[in-house]
Amino acid sequence: MLTRSAKRLLGRTLPRYHNEAPLKPAHLSSILYLQRSNTPLNGDCSGLPKGISKKESFCGHRMHSTTGFRVAEPLQLGMTEMVPDLVPLPSDIRYDDLVITTSKRLQAKPRLDATTLKFGAVYTDHMLQVSWKDGLGWTAPSIDPLGPISLHPCAQVLHYAVECFEGMKVYKGKDGQLRLFRPEMNMDRLARSAARLTLPKFDKVELLECIKELVRVERDWVPDAEGFSVYIRPTMIGTHPFLGVGPTREAMLYVILSPVGPYFPSGLKPIKLYVETENVRAFSGGVGNYKIGGNYAPTILPQLRGSHLGCSQVLFVMQDGKSKGGLVGESGSMNIFFLIRQEGESGELELVTPPLDGLILPGVTRDTVLKLARGFGDMKVSERPLHFDEVERASESGRLLEVFGTGTACMIQPVVGLVMKDSEITVPFDGDAAKHWLAKAPGTAALPNSSSDEPLSLCGRLSRALLDVQYGHVDSEWSVVIEP
Ligand code: COI
Repeated sequence: MLTRSAKRLLGRTLPRYHNEAPLKPAHLSSILYLQRSNTPLNGDCSGLPKGISKKESFCGHRMHSTTGFRVAEPLQLGMTEMVPDLVPLPSDIRYDDLVITTSKRLQAKPRLDATTLKFGAVYTDHMLQVSWKDGLGWTAPSIDPLGPISLHPCAQVLHYAVECFEGMKVYKGKDGQLRLFRPEMNMDRLARSAARLTLPKFDKVELLECIKELVRVERDWVPDAEGFSVYIRPTMIGTHPFLGVGPTREAMLYVILSPVGPYFPSGLKPIKLYVETENVRAFSGGVGNYKIGGNYAPTILPQLRGSHLGCSQVLFVMQDGKSKGGLVGESGSMNIFFLIRQEGESGELELVTPPLDGLILPGVTRDTVLKLARGFGDMKVSERPLHFDEVERASESGRLLEVFGTGTACMIQPVVGLVMKDSEITVPFDGDAAKHWLAKAPGTAALPNSSSDEPLSLCGRLSRALLDVQYGHVDSEWSVVIEP
């Protein structure tokens, strides 16, 4: 097995994958000299210079290594002796250290069918993983066949929910290119969530490069139909076996991939939301603005209650003592948007979403929708507190025009009903108008002030503009192409 940096530094074509031809001992000793981090090499250690024991060397440990060393002196190509003085230095995630072991048993790819390709039910053949220990830093990242991970029963994640995650997607365009969408936002948010839980820092650029490599390994899994993609789930967990509640000393970061169709089985069809006023998702000073598993588990029971009333998700509305209806928050795993026509003569359109005040997840799609809608130039776009009373009043006077949720998983999800225990607000949704916008030529949906003579469907217009970027119909600084 060779690390990518060793291959590069040796300057010759060497086997890329673990499963291919093994290294000769002569290569191995050169490579050990070139190790710049605590990257352990598995396998044959027969090329080690005298005086370096197997335990001190980089051999034999990959995950959970206790031997984290950097070579103390700068290394040069062609050195013939191992630098004897090894000092421990915490190391970061490095793409160059990535080791790939491919699976010998590849699954058949699923059919592109929204009913069979349920969100998050199918996984690709490989995963990316990398471990961290306090004082030693990160081990070499590796791509391995997807499989169970081994955890001590006292691992912090299992007791105190020391876990954060991300949701990203890779899309295949008609040109066959694979594209990520604003992935640096996911890396930034993962770093913020991790810091909140005392999980370790990591090099965001290097992690993203490793994720791209995982996508390259799994490129045949990426569906080439609009609306389908591969969902990317980076996850970081506290693995330290310690029942005391304290800072993380050991962690693991892994990334799995899942080919997906629409998040809600109803697909592009609108859904209803259950207005949840008893349970809260987030509170002032809490962690609602971080993407951590602990924010999601408590939403499942309210969601189940809502499902008995025909709702696919809940809308959290929190009593704040300032209004009868309470403050609109998030909708389950989505940010929420309301298109309201303002009272008075101007009748101005206003797109409203709750502000990032610590209670709301800073969604990548949320931010994109705000930027797109501001670019449309024909409506006011507000991030402001919204009380449910205002939604009710707008509905009563026919001024509530659209409601939709946003998220990486669901993209843009139209809502047709806000269901309470004993009443329901019906929200308009014009399916034909949405189809009109979805059929627009690439790039035209995002043009400023283009909606004056066209049927109103902000959901449709935003979806088209977003799909145009994600599937590469238009060039955009938000698209990150994964080079083959
Ligand atoms: C996403 O939209 O990426 C999410 O994280 C939603 C997920 C909890 C299903």
